[in-house]
Amino acid sequence: MGALPLNRRAFVKQSLACTAGFAWAQEAQTTSLREAGKEKGLLVGTAVSNAQLQRPNFTTLLAEQSSIVVPENEMKWQLIHPAPERFDFTRGDALVSFAGTHDEKVRGHNLCWHEQLPAWFNQLATPQNAADLLRHHIREVAGHYAGRIQSWDVVNEAVHVADGRPDGLRKSPWLRLLGPQYIDIAFRTASETDPRALLTYNDYDLEQDSPEHEAKRQAVLSLLRGMRDRNVPIQALGIQSHLKAGPKVSEWAGFHRFLEAAERLNLQIFVTELDVDDSALPGDIAERDRQVADLYRDYLQNVLRHRSVKAVLTWGLTDRDTWLNHFKPRQDGMPQRPLPFDADLKPTPVFYAMQDAIRTAPAR
Ligand code: G3I
Repeated sequence: MGALPLNRRAFVKQSLACTAGFAWAQEAQTTSLREAGKEKGLLVGTAVSNAQLQRPNFTTLLAEQSSIVVPENEMKWQLIHPAPERFDFTRGDALVSFAGTHDEKVRGHNLCWHEQLPAWFNQLATPQNAADLLRHHIREVAGHYAGRIQSWDVVNEAVHVADGRPDGLRKSPWLRLLGPQYIDIAFRTASETDPRALLTYNDYDLEQDSPEHEAKRQAVLSLLRGMRDRNVPIQALGIQSHLKAGPKVSEWAGFHRFLEAAERLNLQIFVTELDVDDSALPGDIAERDRQVADLYRDYLQNVLRHRSVKAVLTWGLTDRDTWLNHFKPRQDGMPQRPLPFDADLKPTPVFYAMQDAIRTAPAR
């Protein structure tokens, strides 16, 4: 993005001025996340829902801060493919159109996942017709958006080591219906349908220091190596980055090795769903904000050392809209504070941590 129009610059300054209580308040000098990213050749953005697009204050902030967006739910099977022969692109189109108006790129999320499958799918799908159902869905959806999507999450969350298979694959409906070949079918069909989109494998629990994350890193690498061996078209790895704050601090050694291995497979890397679950932290807001922001800064400084990382998206722009309050509510009933803007659209310490990390990252 070029220089912000004056009114948008004024908005940044106005919203930043409201945070004068923060210690790190050289706010008037602060640029948007989008501008900071541009300086480094990095796309920066967020997941967006259709409901958020109806709120004018939100859309002003979104246009100002993001050079890339992704629909939080609107391109998932259940919403975009409500009946076997009916597709509903209304909500997805609204975001793609917004992005076009504001010179933002769009990630597609997602073409094949074990969650949010429509009820009709469970009634209709059989081992005999599942490959055709998958191909039909991808041809219709990726075909509808062809040329307008920067990258597609073609397969989402196919690895779940705890399911106990030697290859680490999740016992998903797709696996039960088709076996492991469903992954190759999805990528090959997406590649035929929209050759311009960067085809991405996207997953979570790959980042932090723990035996579970390390086992998942190894299983994902083995999946990716197998795809390369079979000449399956894949250009990128999406690292969701739903982090959890707590007493254990990660040193990221296993994560760096993982990123280097992905780079050797010639994959671009996208941080696709960054946020921090603060449910294990004390309620005190200043202390909680500090620890959440510290984790953001530490994580981003580490991941951005890798020039293969081309985009960073948070899973939501404001704390008002986080999925965490529904899926991982705090025991004390207080709302989580996981995102760069608070419920009143004011920048939080996370915003400044993201600024710091992007400013000190190498250009790519
Ligand atoms: O569409 C129905 C709507 O008709 C109904 O009125 C409403 C009542 O609650 O539910 C709506 O569906 C909800 C949907 O979000 C849209 O709001 C689902 O119940 C709810 O389960 C769904 O949650 C989403 C979740 O994925 C499951 O799809 C979250 O918003 C979304 O943040 C979350 O995102 C996932 C990524 O796609 C993949 N990675 C993990 C990430 C966090 O779980």
